[in-house]
Amino acid sequence: MRLTEIAHGVHQLSVNVENILFEGLWEMPKGVSINSYVVKGDEVALIDGVCGWDGVPESLFELLDQLNVPIKSIKYVVLNHLEPDHAGFLDAFKQIHSDFEVICTAKGAELLTAFYDAHLKVRIVKDDDMLNLGGGKVLSFKEIPHVHWPDAMVSFESQTGVLFSCDAFGSFGIMEKSAFDDDYTDAEIEAYEKETIRYYSNIIGAFSPFVPKAVNQINRLAVRMIAPGHGLIWRKRKDKIVADYLDYACYQKGIARPEITLLWGSMYNNTGAAVQVAIETLEASGITYHVHQVPETPWGELLTSVWTSSALILAMPTYEYKMFPPMAAALEEIGKKKAHGRKVFRMGSYGWSGGAQKELDEIHDRLRLNWSFLPPHEFKGKPLETDFEIIRERVLELIESLKSENSKK
Ligand code: FEO
Repeated sequence: MRLTEIAHGVHQLSVNVENILFEGLWEMPKGVSINSYVVKGDEVALIDGVCGWDGVPESLFELLDQLNVPIKSIKYVVLNHLEPDHAGFLDAFKQIHSDFEVICTAKGAELLTAFYDAHLKVRIVKDDDMLNLGGGKVLSFKEIPHVHWPDAMVSFESQTGVLFSCDAFGSFGIMEKSAFDDDYTDAEIEAYEKETIRYYSNIIGAFSPFVPKAVNQINRLAVRMIAPGHGLIWRKRKDKIVADYLDYACYQKGIARPEITLLWGSMYNNTGAAVQVAIETLEASGITYHVHQVPETPWGELLTSVWTSSALILAMPTYEYKMFPPMAAALEEIGKKKAHGRKVFRMGSYGWSGGAQKELDEIHDRLRLNWSFLPPHEFKGKPLETDFEIIRERVLELIESLKSENSKK
């Protein structure tokens, strides 16, 4: 738990969470911080809460206590979106305190009654509505729907220039030293970016077309720092995180980095032997590449690599006339995040018949992935030297196409 005064009269209350799956699904090898904020004018507003996945908000209450903010002094609870990691404290909160108003969007009000057993006083806000807390502190609001929930909005405090950005511009990964980006070196922030991309690709990526719209909204505000619901507060690099998010949104269409992700699965190491040749070819070329085996690698890790990669190598055998099942499951998830426009080479072993390619074509067409494929290479049983030769050629062709595309930029 950490308490930080981030601007005059504005405090961050942050709790670290580890060893859980985010949204019950996404692995977080470096954990996550959940951030709440208190704005003190003549009246006090709590912006988003902190709640464990078990719905217990004791950490939030303890931090408010350390801040000498009695729960009963909180006049407004601003909920930038209603996801339970930020709003799940409400049921316990209202047992202690009943005289407060919830501030949220119209969609948020609908979700409030759906998710929480709450009969609360609600003020619905829309773009540019204001909430004057007195003492010079004024909050205003802008809707950023689908980044990443439909009810999402940002709150902006005009005296301090703090943008409370909801889950937008957030990251996974716990950073212990400080709440602010400017207390970290460029090398530390570069390493942290993997957790930002993991967060983006896992929970925001599917809604990428809404990200530029959200950025247009916040560009109208005189923002001095971006304070998200997860991860670091951005001061020195606030323009960079916004530019990075715009880049990540573009990556959905396939205009990503000159990187290749090799996803593979194998039953008896026949496809695995071909994968080794592909890895040797990638390594010798000097291109940036990522290798993940299924089903061993969690989906969130695959997606983090796929998101920044302009090309994919898919290696899997046929299994019972279909694709090796864990690869099919991984491709379904990649497809649902709409990772479009990749260049793809597929290879793999078969025994008594093929079938993996047919299922790949079906998944590709159904999810409208718009991938461009090199000719696939399949081999019966174990791969021979002639197969290895073809695989080397195709992998080199893929690498060359990325290099020439990148040189045009
Ligand atoms: Fe951090 Fe969308 O909840």
